[in-house]
Amino acid sequence: MRRAVIAGTGSALPRRQVTNAQLAETVDTSDEWIVERTGIRMRYIAGEGETTSSLATDAARRAIESAGIEPSAIDLIILATATPDQTFPASATIVQTALGIDDCVSFDVQAVCSGFLYALSVADSMIKSGAARHALVIGAETFSRILDWEDRTTCVLFGDGAGAVVLRGEDSESGVLATRLHADGRHNQLLYVDGGPSTTQTVGKLRMKGQEVFRHAVTNLAEVLREVLAAADLTVADIDWVVPHQANRRILDATARKLGLPAERVVITVDQHANTSAASVPLALDTAVRDGRIKRGDLLVLEAMGGGFTWGAAAIRY
Ligand code: UT7
Repeated sequence: MRRAVIAGTGSALPRRQVTNAQLAETVDTSDEWIVERTGIRMRYIAGEGETTSSLATDAARRAIESAGIEPSAIDLIILATATPDQTFPASATIVQTALGIDDCVSFDVQAVCSGFLYALSVADSMIKSGAARHALVIGAETFSRILDWEDRTTCVLFGDGAGAVVLRGEDSESGVLATRLHADGRHNQLLYVDGGPSTTQTVGKLRMKGQEVFRHAVTNLAEVLREVLAAADLTVADIDWVVPHQANRRILDATARKLGLPAERVVITVDQHANTSAASVPLALDTAVRDGRIKRGDLLVLEAMGGGFTWGAAAIRY
């Protein structure tokens, strides 16, 4: 059966690391509060010259290298981001040019923290339909540029970064087994940016009612995880690794408990990277592939939930 197989992974982080203690020098917060409430210990913040497309390009180069192909073999680029370099053109086309790819299908998707799951699902469909052979799927963000640095309830939670995978269409038992996506726009006032080209003509700042998002996250994530497992005819016991969106350690623990999943089977990077929105799942995936936790043949479940609300999951034989 033709499937989209993960041929390579890559990731990239900005140069500057910022610890909780460093943040507490300018924001009314403490290392103790951030660690206890979120599990975050540090995050990376983009500096001069570092943009969503530059981080995406670095992550993409590493994914292409680990897939053992030339950039010219890529015929589809989907970049998930809510913080593009410009309102248009799509940052995916900037990455395409930086990689030296003359002609391919190239576009951005915007589903905030679930963006990578949305992008992966679209790429999977295009590969299965024969519209693409080698897809580069990237999640990249510079959320530091849409944070209100005076709002301690949000600015301590996010970081910048990028992650990427190369999907290859081939007849295989491995690859993307099933994906499930959801959205419910009734909740868009719980997590949003208060600006945009068609309303304020400004970029705007992130606003969130954290406690309410938290409650929805645990319920939605546990449900979509069960749903994608059922679609692939698998159970929680078959999972080798859950690679979740890294928003808050307490959400990861509560979701695992709800599913009866041992905590040792959840990839956790939120302590190192904080919440990097669409970048967080591919960044965690690449981290766990490179440090040897995730091995060929493992059953992975990727999941995420974010503004919109949007949420989704993918079951993948790595
Ligand atoms: O990626 C998209 C999905 N996003 C999420 O999943 C985020 C989901 N939400 C969360 O992760 C959590 O709700 C937060 C981490 C945002 C907040 O944790 P919480 O346990 O829900 O805290 P809280 O909002 O109930 O605030 C508790 C207290 C408040 O003080 P009072 O009113 O009890 O006196 C806050 O003012 O903590 C205070 N507080 C802080 N204190 C020190 C809020 N932020 C901070 C801070 N430092 N940074």
